[in-house]
Amino acid sequence: MALSLTVNGEQRSLDIEGDTPLLWVLRDELGLKGTKFGCGAGLCGACTVHLNGQPVRSCSTPVEFAVGGEVTTIEGLAEDGQLHALQKAWIAKGVPQCGYCQSGQIMSAAHLLATNPAPTRNDIVAAMTGNLCRCGTYSRIIAAVESVAGGPLAYDASAAGEER
Ligand code: FES
Ligand code: FES
Repeated sequence: MALSLTVNGEQRSLDIEGDTPLLWVLRDELGLKGTKFGCGAGLCGACTVHLNGQPVRSCSTPVEFAVGGEVTTIEGLAEDGQLHALQKAWIAKGVPQCGYCQSGQIMSAAHLLATNPAPTRNDIVAAMTGNLCRCGTYSRIIAAVESVAGGPLAYDASAAGEER
């Protein structure tokens, strides 16, 4: 079936079944390997991309949901040859370890800052809670997001519950 969607600002036409997971379209049809397969069940966040500005789990989003829509992957986050501020912060803070989860982490963080440019630490923890990292980079992720949001922010542990 012929489908058309916009990926990283470029219109793409595909001949593919509509129930194919968006993740496989991105990786296998379009060669965008930055988005990762983790659990395949919507549970880990490794496959997070933006669909019409909202973060979605591409492993469990049929490509037909994206028809006529705009998809942004980690490859599309940089603009005019400049890395996104979060990508720079990730480098500056040395966030990644194995790196496998980090595309999804950055895409979730990018959505947070797009909708809330000055998040509290509680906001950051809440926004990132669905993105798992087996290497345990959580504290550096928070520090990197805070650095983009304007530096360390107050953290109310009692309001946020236990920090990961
Ligand atoms: S691979 Fe999609 S949520 Fe885990
Ligand atoms: S950096 Fe290894 S899983 Fe997150």
